[in-house]
Amino acid sequence: MKKNLFKTAAATILAASMAAGMLTGCGGAKTEAPADGAKTEAAGEAKAASGSTQVWRMAFNQTEDHPQYRVMEEFSKEFKEKTEGRYEIQLFPNETLGAQRETLEQVQSGVIEMSIVNNTHPGSVSDYFKAFDMPFLFDDIDQAIKFVKESPVMEEVKSDTEQYGFRIATYLPAGTRSMFTAKTPIKSVDDMKGLKIRTMESDIYVNMMTAFGGSATPMAMGEMYTAIQSGVVDGAENNEITYVNSKYYEVAPYWSQTNHLIVPDWLIINKDVYYSMSDADRAIFDQLCVEAIDKVQVQWQADVDKLMASLDTSKVTITSDVDIESFKNAIAPTNEKLVAENEKIKKVYDAVQSMK
Ligand code: GCU
Repeated sequence: MKKNLFKTAAATILAASMAAGMLTGCGGAKTEAPADGAKTEAAGEAKAASGSTQVWRMAFNQTEDHPQYRVMEEFSKEFKEKTEGRYEIQLFPNETLGAQRETLEQVQSGVIEMSIVNNTHPGSVSDYFKAFDMPFLFDDIDQAIKFVKESPVMEEVKSDTEQYGFRIATYLPAGTRSMFTAKTPIKSVDDMKGLKIRTMESDIYVNMMTAFGGSATPMAMGEMYTAIQSGVVDGAENNEITYVNSKYYEVAPYWSQTNHLIVPDWLIINKDVYYSMSDADRAIFDQLCVEAIDKVQVQWQADVDKLMASLDTSKVTITSDVDIESFKNAIAPTNEKLVAENEKIKKVYDAVQSMK
């Protein structure tokens, strides 16, 4: 990904939005408009485009082809129609507004209204979410979807972030994660020995890689391609859609189906923005949020096989018969320790087990 370009675009868009005064009513931090001519002009255009419609910005760290992006485009269209033009959500893909951690902070302070972030990020403020970072917590994605939709514990989990200025609007499925590496396939956990693997930014993933026999290098997704290409890391782990859409197969042509993690992505919204809607508009928003879960999953399933089949097998090696039990055995003590040490993690873990 072209990190620097994204950063420049992000800075301009944010400056423009601030200068345009589009951030009022968000209840978050407000910043003075910069005295920069070009930015002020861009701000004028942004304001003219907004009219009487409240325009919300939603950050996304991946491409326009991603199922979550496509569903959110539809969400935005329907939200505008159903609220008779009172709201519009503008989508900024490809880390244009920054990496996920930065966009969470922007949502918290009200600089932007919404973002899609991986579970790791709410997990940095609320321990409940850390349970979802545990390898092999769910047996499959359907179990994860059912849990998030139906478990009584989820209300408590989701509302825990409100004290930090943001609300979990909905869960967005993000598939099952596996390993991909630059030089060697992974057939069992023994093949992880000595490998440096990029992970998302959580201690749980750092401990996970250690338990698997390798070591973790946590970083934002935008830095990952170059890190693999330059040999800073030997590989990474992610879902099939991200692997293909973001072209990681070019630098890590060994895909090994370890299925070690089913981690949620969350659509988040600034808390004050959420409560600033009328009851009727909020009900429309909530309903679209619920519908988004299944819509993403349907598109996800359709994309996975298609995208994996599109890979050139003379260049990409797919190992689908990985010894998954060896990974489960390696991580079991780490998972047990985590559950024993933290009550909030235990609460979610126990609730997951009781639904299995
Ligand atoms: C997945 C997930 C993203 C996350 C990414 C990552 O693609 O859907 O939300 O950012 O993994 O590894 O950083």
